[in-house]
Amino acid sequence: MLKITLKPKLFSFYLVPVLFTFFVTGLQAQTIIAIETRSNALVLKSEANKDLGTIYFGKKLTDKTEYEQVPGTYKQTEDYTRVLNAAYTASGSRNLVEPAISVTHADGNNSLDLKYLSHQRTQVNENIALWSIVLQDPVYDFQVTLYYKVFYKEDVIEQWASIKHNEKGNVILHKYASANLHIKGSGYFLNQYHGDWAKEMQPEESKLTHGIKTLDSKLGTRANLFQPPVFMVSIDKPATENEGQVLFGLLEYSGNFRTDLEVDYQDNLRIISGINNYASPYTLKPNEAFVTPVFLTTLSAEGKGAASRNLHNWARKYKLLDGEGNRLTLLNNWEATYFDFNEQKLADLLKDTKKLGVDLFLLDDGWFANKYPRNGDVAGLGDWEENKEKLPNGISSLVKEAKNNQVKFGIWIEPEMVNPKSQLYEQHPDWIIKQPKRAEHYFRNQLVLDLTNPKVQDFVYGVVDGLFTKNPELAYIKWDCNAVIYNAHSATLKNQSHFYIEYVRGLYKVLERIRAKYPKVPMMLCSGGGGRVDYAALQYFTEFWPSDNTDPLERIFMQWEYSYFYPAIASSNHVTDWGKQPIKFRTDVAMMGKLGFDIVVSHLNEKDLQYCKDAIKNYDALKSIIWQGDQYRLANPRETGIASMLYLNEGKSEGVIFNYLANNRYGAGSSAPILLKGLDPVKKYRIREINLYPETKSTIPADQVYSGDFLMKVGFNPELNLTRTSVILKIEELK
Ligand code: DGJ
Repeated sequence: MLKITLKPKLFSFYLVPVLFTFFVTGLQAQTIIAIETRSNALVLKSEANKDLGTIYFGKKLTDKTEYEQVPGTYKQTEDYTRVLNAAYTASGSRNLVEPAISVTHADGNNSLDLKYLSHQRTQVNENIALWSIVLQDPVYDFQVTLYYKVFYKEDVIEQWASIKHNEKGNVILHKYASANLHIKGSGYFLNQYHGDWAKEMQPEESKLTHGIKTLDSKLGTRANLFQPPVFMVSIDKPATENEGQVLFGLLEYSGNFRTDLEVDYQDNLRIISGINNYASPYTLKPNEAFVTPVFLTTLSAEGKGAASRNLHNWARKYKLLDGEGNRLTLLNNWEATYFDFNEQKLADLLKDTKKLGVDLFLLDDGWFANKYPRNGDVAGLGDWEENKEKLPNGISSLVKEAKNNQVKFGIWIEPEMVNPKSQLYEQHPDWIIKQPKRAEHYFRNQLVLDLTNPKVQDFVYGVVDGLFTKNPELAYIKWDCNAVIYNAHSATLKNQSHFYIEYVRGLYKVLERIRAKYPKVPMMLCSGGGGRVDYAALQYFTEFWPSDNTDPLERIFMQWEYSYFYPAIASSNHVTDWGKQPIKFRTDVAMMGKLGFDIVVSHLNEKDLQYCKDAIKNYDALKSIIWQGDQYRLANPRETGIASMLYLNEGKSEGVIFNYLANNRYGAGSSAPILLKGLDPVKKYRIREINLYPETKSTIPADQVYSGDFLMKVGFNPELNLTRTSVILKIEELK
């Protein structure tokens, strides 16, 4: 029995004890490698000449031996190169299309060919298997190992590559993708996202035409401000919520990424995804392993809903920090005070936190810096000592005060950044990312610290560690990141071409250290809104901030799109004063994820306050279903003007349905019932409206009973109209 020890240099992951490993060498003329999940198969074949190609990617076949017959059923035009379907396309030899990897060898030669050498499959536990396939260049001592980590039940496959050589000098990697997929279909429909500050996760769907469509980022950090690394591809025809074949893809990476979707001349779709090689040729020393980040796919034959539920299950169980754990409801002071606060104001807010009934008070930006006080976003960033004027008794007295009020205390930091008006800037000009001979250029009046420099990594780690050391009862961190990288250059890095990659490695090193010492403290991943949401970062964070735009009407749409890729427990949704909607609407929308408030509680009138307090109690009773339940999208606001989303517990006995009117034109409302999903057809259910505003009555009778069959075939009408724009329904099995 062979055991494998993997020690990726770039990204680490941990294997639970190996149960079973089998190993195959490439002595046979042809080898079929069928990587199967519960529903699907990704099948690779090593030909007689040892070229490794994808021969099938789709629903799994009952008889494994039949995969071999798949290629024969296609009568497409000639593949002149015989590597169009390569499992990892090398450039410079026969290839004519977009490569996954391209290199310059130690002797200056630019050609690479990769031949199948061996593979092995390790059963990690009853749900996870790890495949590794070794490819070798026949001429150069150059190897690529492809990894496929299969999460069987969730139909999820994580893929990455490890690149290594033993040449007589350094090799330059010009491209180093994580994954190279090859898909056959009669057409491909890409659902991609774009955005900007306060406009995150805007979807666009288009039919892919021949040639290459690239989704990428070159921002360095806060990398998905304009484009996140997630997408969907429907195969044959656009998939809907409940029908059609759809692939979700995403790169688990917090820096520059690049995904190329190429419809080739044979009409097949090639997807190549990895770190963006923009300005980043990588010098690889002999025997050093370059391990790429992980590219994830989940394929569904039952539409987007099933794909997203699989992804949520996977994320909560295997990726998101404490994904199956608890979360804290909170009151944040950002929009209540901005930078203008003092101890007295905070003491009042701590009382309000208790009065409202949430778990924690979160102190936002503005609490630090003395020489250049943080009284606006133009100064102080980098100087992480308490501002003596605002907080003469320091953070520790606030933590105590919170305890006196029986609430927890959390704090905002943005430790990767610096304002030019700061002591940090004055003392450590060489810690800052900037071009030595060029003018500085700012994003939100700030610059990014050079995380490629180990001293800066220590500093950033020290900001967090210092806070916890001084205040062991600190219960929450909001980690912000408000600038992109301009003038990418490190004062200390030897090879500037490694800058973008080393920056991300530096970030992960810091987060790794923080989590080693503080494994479970909840941390929100914030980036001036949702500029840095990805599954590599979410290994260290318990939740993310989708957007600074908290107008609930906008949030309905944004949260809807995020929900395809991230479970509700990860989405921090705060009730604020953005928009024109009443408090009920704002609170109801925020309840769809991890609930928080960012309002002046003392400004709420009596009924509004009562409403919030009751809603928080309801939320506390329902939160395990919202966080851990299965999510069914029932009515899409983009298609119907109504949003309806059901969260259902595992036993299908309890759920909550959030319904909103997302269009307020004359006569708008739910004129027809909305079909429910996921229920048990034979169970009897009672539906009643909750989150009623004080002194209002529901129009929905509370004593009506329906079968699951009825609710899924005929549906239920939440009776949305211009006077009932937000309706929350509790559904319960009648036992
Ligand atoms: C941007 C964040 O998204 C906001 O929530 C707030 O924390 C500000 N930064 C503070 O500067």
